[in-house]
Amino acid sequence: MDRVYLDYAATSPMDPRTVERMLPFFTQQFGNPSSLHYFGQQADSAVDLARNAILRLFKSLDHDLVFTSGGTESDNLALKGVTTPINQSRIKRILISPIEHPAVDKTAKRLEQDGTVQIDLLRVDNYGLILHNDLQNKLTGTTLASVVWANNEIGTINDIGKIAQICHKSGALLHTDAVQAAAHLNINLNETDVDMLSIGAHKFSGPKGVGCLVFRKTINLDSQIVGGGQESGKRGGTHNVPLIVGMQAALEMAYKDRESINLHLTNLRDQIIAEILKNIPGSSLTGHPVYRLPNHASFVFEGVKGQELVIALDMAGFSVSSGSACKVGNPSPSQVLLALGIPENLAMGALRVTVGRNTKEDEVRSFLDVLPNIVNNLRNG
Ligand SMILES: Cc1ncc(COP(=O)(O)O)c(C=O)c1O
Repeated sequence: MDRVYLDYAATSPMDPRTVERMLPFFTQQFGNPSSLHYFGQQADSAVDLARNAILRLFKSLDHDLVFTSGGTESDNLALKGVTTPINQSRIKRILISPIEHPAVDKTAKRLEQDGTVQIDLLRVDNYGLILHNDLQNKLTGTTLASVVWANNEIGTINDIGKIAQICHKSGALLHTDAVQAAAHLNINLNETDVDMLSIGAHKFSGPKGVGCLVFRKTINLDSQIVGGGQESGKRGGTHNVPLIVGMQAALEMAYKDRESINLHLTNLRDQIIAEILKNIPGSSLTGHPVYRLPNHASFVFEGVKGQELVIALDMAGFSVSSGSACKVGNPSPSQVLLALGIPENLAMGALRVTVGRNTKEDEVRSFLDVLPNIVNNLRNG
């Protein structure tokens, strides 16, 4: 059976050209960037080149970055890094939205549990957009707000430029989780003035296990991994040079081909949304109809369990995901969908379909041909 991958928001395949660029750093240019000799300096300059290339792509003049093991570590570093320094200027209050990825949500909650910060929750509308007035009312000068740029479950894109302006007017800092956004949106820190931004390479066809936190140079960021003083003392541990080079290569490719890829993705996404809503009674779109990631279609179906739908589709050869957290034996509805006001029983019937640059029209066609019957069978079974 030919398998069709429609789960690009979970992860994406690497482009062989990116792998090619990484290979020499495993075998020939294998030095430790901290070593003073030739091999070390060769590796060190590759890390520096990657750092400068990524900052240039993001048009950041006032920022630096720390290489991390991915989006999760970047989010952890952002929230912990400004709340744990032992000085008067440390931040004691965090505002988060109810649609944050667990890497932000659980980190903030852990910091609250151990008494480091107080958390306040922001409100979102039925599409998952942050309510700007609510944000304004909850801000003080000593706050860090953390707002996801584009949500992974519902694809909604927040107006991060506007949110940054509101935060800065009150003297607060803004961190944004751009792990999903970086694959598709034009991140221009000259225009969208965020203080900290997390990315992870495997969402834009880069390698797994690498990401970075971009941060404004004036921020006092406390290292959360202490060791040999790498990354100017902000993250200990020998750099994973091949992965860092791979992230740079993948991001450069994503930026270069962005317009044509996004056009391809938007066409497929719009076809998926239009046909599912038309052909499957009791289906609704989750997330914003317009401000959504170009590759992202997400739904809830009445009378269907998302987990069962994912399994049935997998058996038919289609890899997708459900918005609900699929814990074996204990499926629970997604907190993100509940925050949008979707009733619990409906939130259990979530499906996320995300396409990528390699997705072909006939793959989408065959998915759309089998889905109505599979939903019907589950409803009747
Ligand atoms: C919005 C968002 N933030 C953070 C992460 C975690 O990133 P990583 O898998 O690189 O740790 C993900 C991954 O699914 C994500 O979608």
